[in-house]
Amino acid sequence: MVLDWCYFAWFSIFLVPFFFLVLSRKKSCSHRLPPGPPGWPIFGNLFDLGTLPHQTIAGMKLRYGPVVLLRIGSVKTIAILSAKVATEFFKNHDACFADRKIIDTMLVHNYNKSSLVLAPYGTYWRVLRRICTVEMFTNKRINETAHLRQKCIDSMLQWIDKEAKSMKKGSGIEVARFIFLASFNMMGNLMLSRDLVDPESKKASEFFTAMEGLMEWSGQPNISDIFPCLRWLDIQGLRQKAGRDMGKAIEVASTFVKERLKEHKEGEYKKDFLEVLLEFEGSGKDEPAKLSEHQINIFILEMFIAGSETSSSSVEWALAELLCNPEAMTRVKAEINEVVGSNRKFEESDIDNLHYMQAVVKETLRLHPPAPLLVPRRAIQDTSFMGYDISEDTQVFVNAWAIGRDPECWEDPWAFKPERFLNLSSKTTDFKGQNFEFIPFGAGRRMCAGLPLGNRMSHLLLGSLLHAFDWELPSNVTPKSMDMKERMGMTVRKLQPLQVVPIKNEHILY
Ligand code: HEM
Repeated sequence: MVLDWCYFAWFSIFLVPFFFLVLSRKKSCSHRLPPGPPGWPIFGNLFDLGTLPHQTIAGMKLRYGPVVLLRIGSVKTIAILSAKVATEFFKNHDACFADRKIIDTMLVHNYNKSSLVLAPYGTYWRVLRRICTVEMFTNKRINETAHLRQKCIDSMLQWIDKEAKSMKKGSGIEVARFIFLASFNMMGNLMLSRDLVDPESKKASEFFTAMEGLMEWSGQPNISDIFPCLRWLDIQGLRQKAGRDMGKAIEVASTFVKERLKEHKEGEYKKDFLEVLLEFEGSGKDEPAKLSEHQINIFILEMFIAGSETSSSSVEWALAELLCNPEAMTRVKAEINEVVGSNRKFEESDIDNLHYMQAVVKETLRLHPPAPLLVPRRAIQDTSFMGYDISEDTQVFVNAWAIGRDPECWEDPWAFKPERFLNLSSKTTDFKGQNFEFIPFGAGRRMCAGLPLGNRMSHLLLGSLLHAFDWELPSNVTPKSMDMKERMGMTVRKLQPLQVVPIKNEHILY
């Protein structure tokens, strides 16, 4: 009996992986596949990826070229690593790769079925996308809501001022916390006309805590995504945790929607995104006549997830880069001083006149795209791409981090030089999806739907912080010694959260 178990163990450890290896090699023989690092049986290239996969994969370009094949557990993946290949991908193959790979934590409460970010390329996706581009994120609509964002900025500056007063001498404050709260608060005001970082409100803090948890769980690497056949085990318990927090967030969102419907009965209407969703009327033919309550709840959560982390992480990186590059800091502060002065608040209408600050935001997004592999795509069908046979369901990473450092497109690609975007040749280089060497918001059909808002929020947050305060490093840190390492989560953040000393500009009232 003992002997039988020994045979079984040996068989499992050595023969099963060998069998899988032979099978996968055999399958690949008839196809032309992109080159890539050899992988382990069963685990494939999983152990090659490390904690910062976008960086590790970027490094593979030297050996394997700009299209690399990886096997992450049982998930076949191609990575795109140059601007040239990205151009071909988005210009000629975008439709074939317009689906998303769905991660396990997003299956809870049928999130993926009502989500825009994860929707399969089809009618439902088109309807939600149209609502975003025609109703929510038009310049007119964004301009009309400037006062709401200003209110959130004022609160953020007051919080920072208060925190600075209780700060120990020589130390700094963790500024990203306040930027995240302000971004979250902006989303609450725009979506629901509510302050959701209000410590006085129980419902607001429940919603905030649940959303924070949801973002945390969905940003963690999950064995269930690497071996979908093990999903049912939920080995790390991430689906359970995401399910708990999403359940809570949906419950609170649902009470907000119900309260709004009650207000409608009393003849009261607001002018926010929730109203747009409730008013939606589809043609009823191939699109829904109305959005269901569950779809509305999920859409609300999605806007918080998509909008808060991205804008706040890019502003933290921008401040960090400016502190490491004192000349750029002096230049951007001088520009703000000239355009805005010190007798009034920074306003959104100032952004158009702040060319160097716009270049700072662009340069930050080039070096630190918040979603360095974008949101992974999925091949809808078997496809031929650049002479390679890509099978249906293959996952695609477009490595915006590597492309932003592609030496064929960028001079001195690792250096932070905002002025590169002021030079004549790069002046027209924008992140609107036409310049494939610079794609922090993605490109093609699935490009970021909230770009105009994300762009406005990042500039407003950064400009207001630079205008209201001078920023210095704590006494034990210098621009040269500052740690700029990354950490992967929902977005790429600084490994060591930025600690800074704010020095208030006393003339400005907020
Ligand atoms: C600095 C800010 C932001 C950055 C860098 C960013 C980046 C991205 C990226 C890389 C994608 C995937 C694109 C692709 O697959 O090609 C994306 C998708 C998306 N983003 Fe953003 N985003 C930002 C802000 C926002 C905001 C403020 C919202 C809305 C409130 C938003 C809503 C969305 C949505 C709905 C999608 C999915 C689009 C689709 O699948 O059709 N984003 N974003």
